[in-house]
Amino acid sequence: MREWSVDLPDEAATRRLAERVAAAMEGGAVFHLDGELGAGKSSFARALLQALGVTGRIKSPTYSLVEHYPLAHGQAWHLDLYRIADPDELEWLGLDALGEPGAVVLIEWPQRGAGAIPPADLTLALAYAGSGRAARLTPGTPRGEQLLLRLVANPDASVQPRTRG
Ligand SMILES: Nc1ncnc2c1ncn2[C@@H]1O[C@H](COP(=O)(O)OP(=O)(O)OP(=O)(O)O)[C@@H](O)[C@H]1O
Ligand SMILES: [Mg+2]
Repeated sequence: MREWSVDLPDEAATRRLAERVAAAMEGGAVFHLDGELGAGKSSFARALLQALGVTGRIKSPTYSLVEHYPLAHGQAWHLDLYRIADPDELEWLGLDALGEPGAVVLIEWPQRGAGAIPPADLTLALAYAGSGRAARLTPGTPRGEQLLLRLVANPDASVQPRTRG
C-alpha cells in the first residue's frame, strides 16, 4: 500500500484516527508529522500518546524540543523541531534513544531535523480542508507498511489500544 487518505472534519476525527493507529501498533514506530502551523500535528500526537496509556499532562515540546513519556512497554518521545534552524543543533539533545527498537517517536516539523532523526516508519501529512483537515498516511519502511495495512484492515477504533515491546 503506497498511501492512505482520510478526511478529518473535526478534532474528534483526528483523535479517532490516532486511536485507530494506536490500536494497529505492535511495538514501536517512528511517525513524522507534516503540515503547516495549526494543521493538527500536536492534536494527533497527544491523542496517540493518550491512547497508548499516557495519563498525565502532555506538554507541548515547542520550547523544550523533546518530551519523554514512559509507556507500559517501552518509551515514547514527542519532538517539535519548529525552532530548529540546523539539524546540528539537535546533537546536544542526545537523541540516540530515539532509534532504539520499541520506541514510539512522534516528530513535528521533521524536515528541520533531517539527518539527525530516525527515518519515518509512517508519515502523517495533515492539510487544511474547509473547517477540518485532510490526512494522508505514507509508509517509509516495511514496518510502517505493515502498520498501515493493519490500520486500514481494522476500521474499529474501539479496539483496546495496545503496544507490545
Ligand atoms: N481535524 C481537525 N479539524 C479541525 N480542527 C482541528 C482538527 N485537528 C486539530 N484541530 C485544531 O487545530 C488547532 C491546532 O492544532 P495543533 O496545535 O494540533 O496544530 P499543530 O499542527 O501542532 O500546530 P504547530 O505547527 O503550531 O505545532 C487546534 O485548535 C485543534 O483543536
Ligand atoms: Mg504542534
